[in-house]
Amino acid sequence: MTHPDVLVLGGGIIGLACARELALRGVRVEVVERLPAGAEASLAAAGMLSPFSEAIPPGPFLDICRESRNLWGPWVAALEEETGLTVDYDTSGSLLVALGEEDEAELDRALRNAREMGEPAEEVEIPALRHWVPDITPAVRRAVHLTGEHRVDNVQLCAVLALALQKLGVTIHYDSEVERVERRQPEGTVLIHGRHWRKEARLLVLAAGAWSGRIPELPPLPLRPVRGQMLLLGGVEWPWRGIVRQGHLYVVRRGATGLLVGATVEEAGFDKHNTVEGIEDLLAFVRRFLPGTAKSRLESIWAGLRPGTPDDLPIVGRIPGWPVLAATGHFRNGILLAPWTAREVKRVALAEVSGEIPELSPKRFLNGS
Ligand code: GLY
Repeated sequence: MTHPDVLVLGGGIIGLACARELALRGVRVEVVERLPAGAEASLAAAGMLSPFSEAIPPGPFLDICRESRNLWGPWVAALEEETGLTVDYDTSGSLLVALGEEDEAELDRALRNAREMGEPAEEVEIPALRHWVPDITPAVRRAVHLTGEHRVDNVQLCAVLALALQKLGVTIHYDSEVERVERRQPEGTVLIHGRHWRKEARLLVLAAGAWSGRIPELPPLPLRPVRGQMLLLGGVEWPWRGIVRQGHLYVVRRGATGLLVGATVEEAGFDKHNTVEGIEDLLAFVRRFLPGTAKSRLESIWAGLRPGTPDDLPIVGRIPGWPVLAATGHFRNGILLAPWTAREVKRVALAEVSGEIPELSPKRFLNGS
């Protein structure tokens, strides 16, 4: 049995990114993941890196989202260099499309926010929109192009991260559910108990997404699963390679001719099933919004559980009284925030910063601890 300096709990994009960042600084890291392979929400996501169209109000959190968006290009380049693989990371942007008055108000808000921050945002002529997205409905009234929104193939990215960790000598223990976590005094370490294993570490990074509040004996963080159902269409031949959104629904290119359609937002506990109603809503959206895709192949359907928090903000920082650093609760922005979270976790873990970001600290939910 090996005992790392830092044990990362969770093999999703956040956990893997944190493990890599620490391993690059010479920290001995291991990752434990409860599933036999891979991650939960990180694989279910659409891979949008979209701080503006996610309707995040201006303020410190939006600034963090923009900072993370800026980290993405260099992060992908470094991962490609480390692994010799390529990642489908696309900077075409988002097209926000208005069909009705409500959408127009949303476009105005996004335009205003982006411009106030000096982010490029421009109106798109309807003929140009039709060229990029030939399947778009004739009912389109207006469109805006946000070039500062990117996308990534998150499934590919997670695989590349796992390979990068392997090359750094970091072990990912799959199929390794944690049964309880014990604080060791006076050592100040943490003992993590699995079914047939135990590991002691100086620090535990808690990156278990929607499951982060259910680790026995750790102070319970108020995480809740928020289900998102998605589907994938195949055979969609468009010049446009980025994101297209109408209201809270979106389509995102995947691979050469794929089109992801998402997503529902449902409070359904840890139930990860697709439902007739959920898929029907997504299909109704895509038929209304992109009628030209009606004959496209329906390739697959799935659902993921976003890690929601009471204030919709992530939880990043030390859990009071425990050698545990939370990196969880990213809700709709886990893919976007992966490089920023990894950098922040590394800075806090290695005491490179004097404090934590109060708005994101676990302390806001654990006053009594
Ligand atoms: N970020 C998109 C979603 O959570 O549906």
